[in-house]
Amino acid sequence: MSDGGTDLRTATTQELHDRYGQLPTTALVKLVATNFAGRIAFANSFGIEDVVLQHLLLPWLPKVAVFVLDTGRLPEETHAVIERWRTEFHLPVQICNPDAEALSAFTQEHGPNAFYRSAQLRQQCCAVRKLAPLQRALVNHDAWFTGLRRGQSAYRQATAVFDRDEAGRLKISPLAAWTDADVWNYAHEHRLPYNVLYQQGYPSIGCSPCTRAVAPGGDPRSGRWWWEETSRKECGLHLRRDPEVHRVN
Ligand code: ADX
Ligand code: SF4
Repeated sequence: MSDGGTDLRTATTQELHDRYGQLPTTALVKLVATNFAGRIAFANSFGIEDVVLQHLLLPWLPKVAVFVLDTGRLPEETHAVIERWRTEFHLPVQICNPDAEALSAFTQEHGPNAFYRSAQLRQQCCAVRKLAPLQRALVNHDAWFTGLRRGQSAYRQATAVFDRDEAGRLKISPLAAWTDADVWNYAHEHRLPYNVLYQQGYPSIGCSPCTRAVAPGGDPRSGRWWWEETSRKECGLHLRRDPEVHRVN
């Protein structure tokens, strides 16, 4: 599991940064996909970054498994994009649903739209619908790809290409340094299917009841959980665990 020097499984994120930080995105994706073949997954939300990254990963299927966390509250427009990738690219995407019993217990106790009532209930909803399914999806994997970018929000400005999650898995965000324009240019150049909500003023797309359109020029994350008074709009999938972050590129 090395390329003649650095073992990707055991190296620190700083070592990975020092050795591979300057690789072009395609070379980085190839290096990681081949080193972790069969033990790596891609968390694909089918947002614009993720359809770009999915396209870069197509040569590495099925070495890299693909899954989407279908929370049960995704917009129909997101389901439509998933369907297009399944049919046009024959993408073998695993659809991960929340645990039925846990979800039923939560909605029975708190109602279907509890997230509007308090930050705590919102986090509990994300925990049942997203975080627990994510942990199940990653059980047999040593590493995972995400489409996180530094330009997405102030909180995400510290996003590292190489990170480790709480379980010690390598978490790779190959598009961390890409700009909004880089992503859209790539998507247009390759004519990738993407979510029509982007054309309706949604710069960031999550669950339907927790996402709304943003006025032109507005903070792209401000349409997510818009009723919450915090600048840190995160569902918990990507909260930082380590104050020491290694920026790459
Ligand atoms: S979120 O944490 O606020 O929902 P965002 O929508 O920006 O995150 O997505 C950031 C990254 O988290 C995506 O590039 C993807 O890797 C992962 N992700 C987010 N939502 C999902 C989902 N529903 N299914 C799979 N991966 C997801
Ligand atoms: Fe629940 Fe909203 Fe989180 Fe989706 S984004 S899991 S609906 S709180």
